Amino acid sequence: MQKLEVFGANKLKGKIKISGSKNASLPILAASLLSNKKIKLKNLPKVKDIETMIFLLQSLGSRILIKKNHLIIDNSRQFKKFASYNLVKTMRAGILVLGPLLAKFGSAKVSLPGGCAIGTRPIDIHLKALSKLGVKYSISNGYVNAIAPNGLKGNKINFPKISVGATENLLIAACFAKGTTILSNCAIEPEIKDLTIFLNKMGCKIKWLSKRKVKIIGVDNLKNTDHSVMFDRIEAGTYLIAGAITEGNLNILNVNPKLLKTEIDILKKVGAKIRIFQNEIKIIGNKKINNINLKTAPWPGFPTDLQAQIMVLLCKANKKSKIKEEIFENRFMHVGELNRMGAKISINGNEATIEGNANFKAAELMATDLRASVSLILAALNSKGKSIINRIYHLDRGYENIEKKLKKVGAKIKRIN
Ligand code: UD1
Repeated sequence: MQKLEVFGANKLKGKIKISGSKNASLPILAASLLSNKKIKLKNLPKVKDIETMIFLLQSLGSRILIKKNHLIIDNSRQFKKFASYNLVKTMRAGILVLGPLLAKFGSAKVSLPGGCAIGTRPIDIHLKALSKLGVKYSISNGYVNAIAPNGLKGNKINFPKISVGATENLLIAACFAKGTTILSNCAIEPEIKDLTIFLNKMGCKIKWLSKRKVKIIGVDNLKNTDHSVMFDRIEAGTYLIAGAITEGNLNILNVNPKLLKTEIDILKKVGAKIRIFQNEIKIIGNKKINNINLKTAPWPGFPTDLQAQIMVLLCKANKKSKIKEEIFENRFMHVGELNRMGAKISINGNEATIEGNANFKAAELMATDLRASVSLILAALNSKGKSIINRIYHLDRGYENIEKKLKKVGAKIKRIN
């Protein structure tokens, strides 16, 4: 099994180009199932989750031509409506094919994604909302069997809780529902806005009415579409934190700084110097790191996907900080490993107290999930000596060429077998 070897603690300096967003690409790939016309997608990141979603689409009958910088998808062939456990188990976003399959064929059988390291992650909100569009479902042997006997019919749906995946599944499904659907209490992450742009380019009729309310008028005909996926704001946030923690000097390229305002404000508060350009952010890390209290929240709040990374930085703060994890119930898996490296973090329910003034020591470490893995790299980059990070397959799910990108800015990092 592959591992990463990291020698800290040198300052990172140079330019890092941010890849396309994994979390925008996944629902966009799923939404492509609606169409029988040609779809060209650019700026998809070369990461494992995207590969898995491509395999999933191919298993459903998609013909996908993979070129160096884009994909051409042709879904005009007869489709299967079955998404197998083998493909959905490794990636929860596999459940996003449920909405488009139901919309296109009126029935589908999709594996339940199951739990994962960061919590139980149910799909009850997806299923209840789909039932309001006329879907009947049952769950047996780990699969959702869903059918819309009279096709999907538009309705008013108020999500009981903000869910990124449920908003995406319903947005996609409602595009083929008869009449009008109004979704309220929607998640409004930039990736969802990118999905909306893509669906509208395909010929769907989606209009945001207010902050969390969207109107979808059902259509039955789509057109050829060309779309370039937005940048990965979690990858960008991770490298900004890498710049801050190594007292580095990094230019983060190919981003829209407006979509990183919350993260930039927090990094400024902890003491990093930041300059913003049109598609670029420059960060200069400061030796002194100020403590802060923060909580994760749906957009435009601080993202749960950057919680582990910012925690590493706060371990270096001059005083005690607190982080409340408001999205997932069990997203502190990185804490044990960070404490082994010399951090002093205690957990009480969904709140972590970080003592600060940590002097990280290199260690052999175990990654537990995607963002936890990268937080261990950040800590290793700040530790003198050699750290080994095991189970990096988690990392490969969401970070394109991470060791190449870090090496280019001066990190001593390599992949070993
Ligand atoms: C997406 C992101 C993930 C991010 C998360 C929160 C993708 C592929 N993944 O995940 O990286 O961390 O948003 O920003 O885009 N919930 C239910 N029932 C449901 C659905 C969700 O109880 O049917 C709960 C979840 O357990 C969680 C919360 O709602 O506690 C938010 O989850 P959700 O926004 O749905 O996350 P995902 O779409 O799975």
